[in-house]
Amino acid sequence: MAFRVTLTVASAVSMLALLATASPADTGAQKDNAYSTDVSSFNFDDAGYTYCNPGYPQTESYAPLPDAQLQLVQAVVRHGDRTPVHQIPNDDTTWFCDGIEEDIYLHAANQPERNNTGSYQQVIEIPTWNKKYGFAYQLWKGTCDSGQLTDHGKLQHRTLGSKLRSIYVDKLGFLSDKLVRNSEVYARTTYIWRTKNSAESLLGSLWPDRGFTPDVAIPIHTYPQQIETMYGNSDACPAIKSIRNRMIKSDQFQKFLQDQGPLMSRLASIFDINGNDWKNTWDGYFDILNARECHGFQLPCDHSADSVKGSSPACATAQDAAQVRRNSHYELMFEYRDHPLAQNLTQLIIGSFWGTLKEQIDSHIAGKSGDLKFALYSGHDSTLIPMLATMKASNHNMLWPPYASNILLELWKKSDGSRVIRVIYNGQVLKLQKGHEWCDLNACPVDTFLSYIDQFIPTDIAMQCKA
Ligand SMILES: *[C@@H]1O[C@H](CO)[C@@H](O)[C@H](O)[C@H]1NC(C)=O
Ligand SMILES: *[C@@H]1O[C@H](CO)[C@@H](O)[C@H](O)[C@H]1NC(C)=O
Repeated sequence: MAFRVTLTVASAVSMLALLATASPADTGAQKDNAYSTDVSSFNFDDAGYTYCNPGYPQTESYAPLPDAQLQLVQAVVRHGDRTPVHQIPNDDTTWFCDGIEEDIYLHAANQPERNNTGSYQQVIEIPTWNKKYGFAYQLWKGTCDSGQLTDHGKLQHRTLGSKLRSIYVDKLGFLSDKLVRNSEVYARTTYIWRTKNSAESLLGSLWPDRGFTPDVAIPIHTYPQQIETMYGNSDACPAIKSIRNRMIKSDQFQKFLQDQGPLMSRLASIFDINGNDWKNTWDGYFDILNARECHGFQLPCDHSADSVKGSSPACATAQDAAQVRRNSHYELMFEYRDHPLAQNLTQLIIGSFWGTLKEQIDSHIAGKSGDLKFALYSGHDSTLIPMLATMKASNHNMLWPPYASNILLELWKKSDGSRVIRVIYNGQVLKLQKGHEWCDLNACPVDTFLSYIDQFIPTDIAMQCKA
């Protein structure tokens, strides 16, 4: 996840300044003590979890709500399998991203002469010969940029698109078999390539025959990076950093880091990275190890002279990767769901986006959204994690979202005129954390759902974002 806030020296300093001026009434720090950070005894409920592939919606077991009509589906998805975002020196892996052509994103939509303009393909070039003249020795080999959607990632979103088709087109007859009006669909991605490519892979198999006539080109909307709301935008909202810094400084989190410190130092040394840059989050370690595991690559080995000379160089192991996953699950549950300031944090990270989803539901109910039926939001783990956390997802549903994870928010109208929301996460109705069952998410009355979500929507984002 490219967007996690990393603690810099500068922000640590402002963190201290913030603590010094905190009012005595602010009891966040004391309440932290209620939270255990013993990872070894934590019940992650991770049976059946795999990071590399999501659970897909299942056509056979999918059942429409009885006596009700589907009105709107909002799909919030994570991009598919990607190359690592974090680089390490001496990388000897090879990644491919050019087996499946990307299509629509390289065309202008609504361009009448499009059939005459030819098509273009993005080709990443990593030269193998120019050690002498360039920096290619710093990167892996192959045809992928860092953080790029791989061919496997594109296939995951094609699978997801065809599952959605089998449910919403074939089984329910809810969406059009062939898209003749693009007003039926709204699509938005972050400005990052992998989410755009995921969206086009998904939409391309949801409507495989939609053709390429200009009137059914599907616009894919993107907010400029500076005002993006689909993940924690800490440049636009400095308070995100200061709240997270408070969490990091808490006794519990420090103890957790200390307990797991030897593993972190060992991996930093094997990776040959400056551990100081990655010291308050497992995010980078998670990325390096999992991206490789999902491709069956050898995990990184220590390339330092001493290690190479030894009989067997030190390498990261599958057990290390498993522990890093547990640490990462723990970290995100701690920060996003369970810490006393978790709601303050998630409000600033994902509250604006929740506001957008809510407005779309409201406007649909008010009959103001024309023939819109399907809205796709293609984002990141950092989009899904805070959404799941605000809904108080169960421990199992709070495990790090696998590639191509998918949340479906379905709006149904019952025959008595009332409306309910169903929330499906990776093919199952979302289960909630024990003791926090605020609604049955198989059929949650729309008013209950929206007023619950309201508490996470910032009322004055500009003011709340001041650090
Ligand atoms: C190009 O597309 C336009 C608009 O759809 C169509 O009228 C025209 O016949 C097409 N031209 C060719 C060469 O296919
Ligand atoms: C957290 O949110 C509560 C409730 O809105 C507020 O009173 C408190 O000041 C916030 N704390 C921080 C540190 O932002």
